Amino acid sequence: MKKMMAANWKMYKSHFEARATLQDLLYLAKNLPENREVLIFPPFTLLDAVAEQIKGVPDYALGGQDVYPAAEGAFTGEIAPGMLQDCGCSWVLIGHSERRHVLGESDEFVGKKTAFSLESGLNVVLCVGETLAQREAGELSIVLARQMDTGLGSVGNSLEPACLCIAYEPVWAIGTGRVAGPKEILEAHAQTREHLEKKFGDNGKNIRILYGGSVKPENAAEILTLDNVDGVLVGGASLQAESFSRIILS
Ligand code: PGA
Repeated sequence: MKKMMAANWKMYKSHFEARATLQDLLYLAKNLPENREVLIFPPFTLLDAVAEQIKGVPDYALGGQDVYPAAEGAFTGEIAPGMLQDCGCSWVLIGHSERRHVLGESDEFVGKKTAFSLESGLNVVLCVGETLAQREAGELSIVLARQMDTGLGSVGNSLEPACLCIAYEPVWAIGTGRVAGPKEILEAHAQTREHLEKKFGDNGKNIRILYGGSVKPENAAEILTLDNVDGVLVGGASLQAESFSRIILS
């Protein structure tokens, strides 16, 4: 199973900046080690441009940062799975904590998006993770169980494992510089694995679980050696080719 090295560019970059970043990234990390796969989530406005630059580069893939669970229709401002595929996306990011906590997305809506995207042929990175208040109240297990059960509630049990990644991103570690420690990551990833095996049986062993939250070149190697860590989802440190390439190659 290749480790998934995912870049979440959030609401950053012009065309000029994206092209320059990609050019540098492909110079620094075009030939990936055999056990690495790279996935870029740019803003919608940059999907075409990034698709063009990574076209034909082995083990580089493109994803949308969000999706609406319908094939088409009167949903102003939204984007359909088929539209992402039309731009060259094979993946979509769903349930990121900024969408849950800033934009107010519910677990149910996240679940609808996940099921509809998979049915439409897109691979999904589904994000889960607790807030600081929930962690301090001892609610990690409850939150993970709810987000996993509802997020995957309408997904068939016979899912092809390569089509799904779960990204465990503790909200208190996102963009704060405060990375979760090995003990915290091991605990949350083990619980996530348990849920996956409960739902998907043996296939649940082969669904990748990514860690996200203040991943940097300095801590990536250690995080990637932990049990049940099958990749990383990187925000801030993915915006520069220099730091993201060091993470990819760590
Ligand atoms: P960060 O963001 O690496 O800047 O903490 C991670 C994410 O939001 O996916």
